[in-house]
Amino acid sequence: MAEPAVETLSEEAARAELAALAETLSQANRAYHTDDAPEISDADYDRLKQRNAAIEARFPHLKREDSPSDQVGSAPAEGFGKIRHAQRMMSLSNAFEDADITDFDTSLRRYLGLSEDDALTYTAEPKIDGLSLSLRYENGKLMQAATRGNGSEGENVTANARTITDIPEQIDGAPEVLEVRGEVYMSHADFADLNARQEARGGKTFANPRNAAAGSLRQLDARITRDRPLRFFAYAWGELSEPLAETQMAAIARLKDFRFETNPLTAICENPDAILAHYRKIETQRATLGYDIDGVVYKVNDLALQARLGFRSTTPRWAIAHKFPAELAWTRLEKIDIQVGRTGALSPVARLTPVTVGGVVVSNATLHNEDYIAGRDNEGNPIRDGKDIREGDWVQVYRAGDVIPKVADVDLSKRPAESQPFVFPTICPECGSDAIREEGDAIRRCSGGMICPAQAIEKMKHFVSRSAFDIEGFGAKQVEQFYTDGWIKEPADIFTLKDNYGSGLQQLKNREGWGEKSAGNLFDAIDERRRIALPRVIFSLGIRHVGESASALLARHYGTWPAFEAAMVNAAPMDGAAWDDLLSIDGVGAVMAHSLVAAFNQSAERQSIDRLVAHLDIQEAERPNTEGSPVAGKTVVFTGTLERMTRAEAKARAEALGAKVSGSVSAKTDIVVAGPGAGSKEKKARDLGLMILDEDGWLEFIAG
Ligand code: IVH
Repeated sequence: MAEPAVETLSEEAARAELAALAETLSQANRAYHTDDAPEISDADYDRLKQRNAAIEARFPHLKREDSPSDQVGSAPAEGFGKIRHAQRMMSLSNAFEDADITDFDTSLRRYLGLSEDDALTYTAEPKIDGLSLSLRYENGKLMQAATRGNGSEGENVTANARTITDIPEQIDGAPEVLEVRGEVYMSHADFADLNARQEARGGKTFANPRNAAAGSLRQLDARITRDRPLRFFAYAWGELSEPLAETQMAAIARLKDFRFETNPLTAICENPDAILAHYRKIETQRATLGYDIDGVVYKVNDLALQARLGFRSTTPRWAIAHKFPAELAWTRLEKIDIQVGRTGALSPVARLTPVTVGGVVVSNATLHNEDYIAGRDNEGNPIRDGKDIREGDWVQVYRAGDVIPKVADVDLSKRPAESQPFVFPTICPECGSDAIREEGDAIRRCSGGMICPAQAIEKMKHFVSRSAFDIEGFGAKQVEQFYTDGWIKEPADIFTLKDNYGSGLQQLKNREGWGEKSAGNLFDAIDERRRIALPRVIFSLGIRHVGESASALLARHYGTWPAFEAAMVNAAPMDGAAWDDLLSIDGVGAVMAHSLVAAFNQSAERQSIDRLVAHLDIQEAERPNTEGSPVAGKTVVFTGTLERMTRAEAKARAEALGAKVSGSVSAKTDIVVAGPGAGSKEKKARDLGLMILDEDGWLEFIAG
């Protein structure tokens, strides 16, 4: 129906239309931003917004408090482009106690083969609570800025980064290629100003400076970023055409010479005691710094040692973040709810009287598991002096950074007289199946598998999520809708939606919220994902303990789906070559390995995987760039004592060169590196006629 021209609207009609537009546009915003599931096209959105503005221009006094014109940052324009990081952006492993720091030092010494008397120097600097950004300069000119994203691929925020005054456009004397990494943050004063301005114009206010910084950097319209006072500290680097320096400290000094802001509280520490002293110094200054920090980061100062230490799957071995203790508050626990997750785990959630903890309103907190509620740890020892947690209790809540808030303590003096211990359910509240707790497992799990609606839905939400199949227009909401309709029961069904209901197109387009175009787009988006990368497929299966980075490691190790699948089946006896090979992957432990093997050898789950894979064209995984490596693809066994490096280092280096490191010698082994004291493995290698090298021979071989 054609809309009446704005000039002809009566005041009455204008008021009604503004109300309707506010409702429609706010629903559209929610669908787009919160649910990741747009309901109207970008063009329609823009048209409605323009009409709203035109009516407001004619009747300024009718402009609403919640006018869509004032909703910043939610216009569904084109999303950000993606940028692949030349070198992955890592996160940091965490330490919480002083003892973790001495352990860190000890384990590095062990890895590097250093004695207690050898020097091992660190830098210590504040951990800025913002968001990381990678800036690429070529010949001194800022070319690209990208957020961390998933570490491998981030969002292109170049235009926005150019608006930040701490980030130079042009630098002198820099290497040809220079990637500077650091933290974007907002100062306390600027945060307070921004919220005051937002409030004055009826816009959105932010919960804390980090959210404000993230919301401001990730603006599709860089003009908005320009109006937000963001700052930047440089503390690391990515790709370099030549090294910056020989030490971390000197490299940071060079970044400062290039006119980056670097943190003035960065210090050299010669040992763990000095580190802890610097930690306390920073902690006492925390409240007066004028920006949020959430801990202190320690890094090995010598860059040659950093290179020897290298990386685990997502974190460097040569650095650690020492977090400040979490922030606390007391409130009432109103109710304990049980949620059923993707793997059937029954998770108790505390519903709280809302309370502000460190600037964020908290109304839910995790209660972990039934033992935690009962006041016991996993081994049955008392926690909180054995105090249990009950509905109606007065509880202490704490949060640290992004972590889900937790209930830490109970005040028994405030416990209501009529309160009863919480009875943890032994049947699934979602499907009524038995909820079973296996020996040695802290978690009770629903045994319903895919017949449990909560498990099935959560599994499929995971399946379509961003790091898994990432099907455009297919988010949590669509999973729920199609599941409720009985259209999908497992991931494989997504790929037969069109055939089974189609004229799926016919049926879908007649449903509320769907039109011919959106239905067509959905089926196209599904078809596009039939061809898919191996790590995504592995991750999408939602196997317990197998996260995104483990999926990448597995994909890299096995290369193809058939090889991966065969290996998981062959590893079933949980000893033998396939099992050893699985455990030889740095980053795969026994718990994850068990979980993988169970998934591929439990018939219902396996059948569901097979049904899915039949619809897919799974791409071979990217192998590490091992061009020219003499050991790429070779299987290597280390045995006996190594004198020039530790076993862990030898393994990590061999893997970085594309070799597989195995624990046992077989006909499939290519090279055996035998140090003094090598016994039966060396003999077996000799019997099999394999290539045997001593440590020096190995080093020469890989250098060549
Ligand atoms: S170094 C390869 N130094 O903390 C190591 N990170 O929890 C790269 N962060 O993703 C990180 N202050 O966003 C480093 N002084 C600092 C930092 C810092 C804040 C952030 C960074 C990182 C996260 C890990």
